[in-house]
Amino acid sequence: MATAARTFTRALPRASSSLRYSSRSPVAKQFFQNARRGYATESSSSTSSSTKYVWAAGAGFVAFAGGYLLSNYNTEQPHKVENPSILKQIPEIHLKKGSGDQALGIFTPSAEDYQKVYNAIAKQLWEKDDYDDGSYGPVLLRLAWHASGTYDAETKTGGSNGATMRFAPEGDHGANAGLRHARDFLEPVKNAFPWISYSDLWTLGGVCAVQEMQGPSIPWRPGRQDRDEAFCTPDGRLPDASKSHDHIRAIFGRMGFNDQEMVALSGAHALGRCHTDRSGFDGPWTFSPTVMTNDYYKLLMEEKWGWRSWGGPKQYQDVKSKSLMMLPTDMALIEDNKFRESVQKYADSNEKFFEDFSNVVMKLFELGVPFKSEEGDRLKLKTFDEQGLGQ
Ligand code: HEM
Repeated sequence: MATAARTFTRALPRASSSLRYSSRSPVAKQFFQNARRGYATESSSSTSSSTKYVWAAGAGFVAFAGGYLLSNYNTEQPHKVENPSILKQIPEIHLKKGSGDQALGIFTPSAEDYQKVYNAIAKQLWEKDDYDDGSYGPVLLRLAWHASGTYDAETKTGGSNGATMRFAPEGDHGANAGLRHARDFLEPVKNAFPWISYSDLWTLGGVCAVQEMQGPSIPWRPGRQDRDEAFCTPDGRLPDASKSHDHIRAIFGRMGFNDQEMVALSGAHALGRCHTDRSGFDGPWTFSPTVMTNDYYKLLMEEKWGWRSWGGPKQYQDVKSKSLMMLPTDMALIEDNKFRESVQKYADSNEKFFEDFSNVVMKLFELGVPFKSEEGDRLKLKTFDEQGLGQ
């Protein structure tokens, strides 16, 4: 049963984000409202069995006609089709004319194909707004970060290449609790675009989440390959929220980040919330957890924070409204002088935060990936608004 305080916290972000959405994203919002209206007459279990057959036949045809190389295609999860709306997004077959690929029937995805995958994720993000504070965006970003943040620069193990969180033991690591919601969310997209690796899909999901939640554009490139459970990383590579600045430097230093980058990455906590049934912590960091802003830094610097008195793990709450939270690792960013300088910089300038966040998230998602492409080959995927979709 939701408490009054929790109801208040949940209502505020919704109000605040919907206001921002309606002022900044009228086109996309209209599109999804129309799309939702289209589904109003469908049963809640959504996909009739006949539709499922059409889906299966469509997906099968694409796989056959394209002669896909399915070496990256993982079959350990049941591939049920949940969202008929993305049928339209199944890519056309593009074989490079006159190339060896064409002779072999190998499908070489183009930038347009990745934009189609992006659009399928974005469309679901906007349609499935009955989750948490109204968006799967935050948990998608968390999935991409936890897939990437296992990287160890010394041994060159871990990182987003592999998507090994699909398997035990990594999927069962305490730090990854709740990320099944994000993995399941992306499964229909994987079904519609079986040529994309899970590793590319998860990081693309993170990019899409940030951009559709009005964050900065994040350049992204494909090239990750899925690996099996033998490549699962050991437990303990992701940060422990109950610790302090030394721990933050040890964990992110292992990945190859400097102090400023650690603070810029932490700004992701403008988004989403903690869940008692996942991490044990509770509540959102900001009043607009589905809109990317520099509010996390502003609140850290400007609000008074005290320990919350409750039965859960030690966490801070804002003294004034008692509805926002900070983890011990969040507070460590203002307790440490060097970290604090960057917190102040980002509290003062949303523009600077967006610029640095874009660079550091791009770096995070590329850790340990054996790209064959060049840095200049990165794609700038367009948001729904930028594409004028729904007009
Ligand atoms: C010291 C570093 C960090 C610690 C200790 C930490 C810890 C946590 C914890 C405990 C949660 C709550 C999970 C839950 O109960 O659902 C959380 C959520 C989240 N974290 Fe972090 N995190 C860190 C860094 C990052 C970074 C680098 C990113 C992304 C770049 C990130 C993105 C997120 C997001 C978006 C959520 C919200 C997820 C949701 O709403 O479901 N975090 N984090």
